[in-house]
Amino acid sequence: MRSETLSIHGGYLCDPATRAVAAPIYQNVAYEFESADQAAAMFDLEVPGYRYSRISNPTVDILERRVAMLEGGKACLAVASGQAAMSTALLNVADHGGSIVAPPQLYGTTHTLLAHTLRRHGVEARFAASDRAQDIAALIDDTTRAVFCETVGNPAGNICDIEAIAKVAHDAGVPLIVDNTVATPILMRPIDFGADIVVHSLTKFMAGHGVAMGGAIVDSGRFDWRASARRFPMFNRPDESYHGLVYVDRFGDEAYIARARSVYQRTTGAVLAPMTAFLILQGIETVALRVERHVANARRVAFALREDPRVAWVEYAGFEDHRYHALANKYLGGRPPSLLTFGLHGGHAAAKRFYDALKLVKRVVNIGDTRSLCCHPASTTHRQMTPQQQLAAGVSPETIRLSVGIEHVEDILEDLDQAMASAIDPASKLAAE
Ligand SMILES: Cc1ncc(COP(=O)(O)O)c(C=O)c1O
Repeated sequence: MRSETLSIHGGYLCDPATRAVAAPIYQNVAYEFESADQAAAMFDLEVPGYRYSRISNPTVDILERRVAMLEGGKACLAVASGQAAMSTALLNVADHGGSIVAPPQLYGTTHTLLAHTLRRHGVEARFAASDRAQDIAALIDDTTRAVFCETVGNPAGNICDIEAIAKVAHDAGVPLIVDNTVATPILMRPIDFGADIVVHSLTKFMAGHGVAMGGAIVDSGRFDWRASARRFPMFNRPDESYHGLVYVDRFGDEAYIARARSVYQRTTGAVLAPMTAFLILQGIETVALRVERHVANARRVAFALREDPRVAWVEYAGFEDHRYHALANKYLGGRPPSLLTFGLHGGHAAAKRFYDALKLVKRVVNIGDTRSLCCHPASTTHRQMTPQQQLAAGVSPETIRLSVGIEHVEDILEDLDQAMASAIDPASKLAAE
């Protein structure tokens, strides 16, 4: 089945109990065991089934199957937020210590997770000089437990060469973990290009309505944890917390998600509520249609901004002369996502005036909503970074990030136009020229 169909039907035919065709909300915590022996077998992970909703839940299950199918993966764990997905995905391979190698273009909180939070847990973050495969390869060594990148960086809009990065990771016996939040599986399926694990903030384009937070980790099932057993004892050696269970022996190509669920989800508890899973499923039903309109509107906005004399620069990989244009064609089928950045003549001061003058476009830190959203990353999402780290992540003091929504594009353009008119004093624009 194709993505448009999977986003509506993936992972669910009808409710086995009632034959309801819409996903039912199993607003339920516990599930009755048939006997002590059956309960024990479940707790030993010998038989599948529901026992407690911190570990699994039938509504959340539907979401997990749907996201796995959309990404072309083998197994999925849905969690409470995108950040819960990032931290679980990385700790699951690095909780015995080691290093994670990443390009500098990352969402600000993910940068903080790597540079500070994981470091305090004994995991070293190594940021490459750029997102190029050779710069990433230069930092991989025996301590490395994963290469991590955003398929399309937020807010830089850089497009990672996933095939090349997967190759340098695999040559070293290391998995490639990617954040596919901005692209969504509608524009790119990273597993098709060699990524091993795909992480999502479902809060963004996937849900799309801006009313629910969630995250997901999808495993391709292709990384050979046995072949890199010295690097990854957690999958290959008996787990004392589970009566000596060896994940690769018991779960084969689902070992990664099985461990994420039974170690992290079970003990740290960043659970996605069934009601929230339901809301996200409602959003996913329309993700293919919405993304199509997001892409078309962003294209119109990017070209209009580029032609506007009040605008100093625009970063958008849809421009033929853009440095990521070829990669946008290769990985996104020529459809850059609706996240773009730009700067006005008049710099930081004009950016602030523009931001304050917006009427339709919302001043928020979210992305991927049906509504058009605007953010000033240097004062919000990327505030915890040093000015140098901000620049490497694609954030200068005047950068304005737009997440172009699916309203009528003329209404979006009119709002940008009136905000620019209030922001740009014609005299200062002429002086800048
Ligand atoms: C690319 C990217 N990844 C992850 C996240 C974190 O997601 P959440 O807010 O659902 O925790 C965000 C949030 O903006 C993001 O933009």
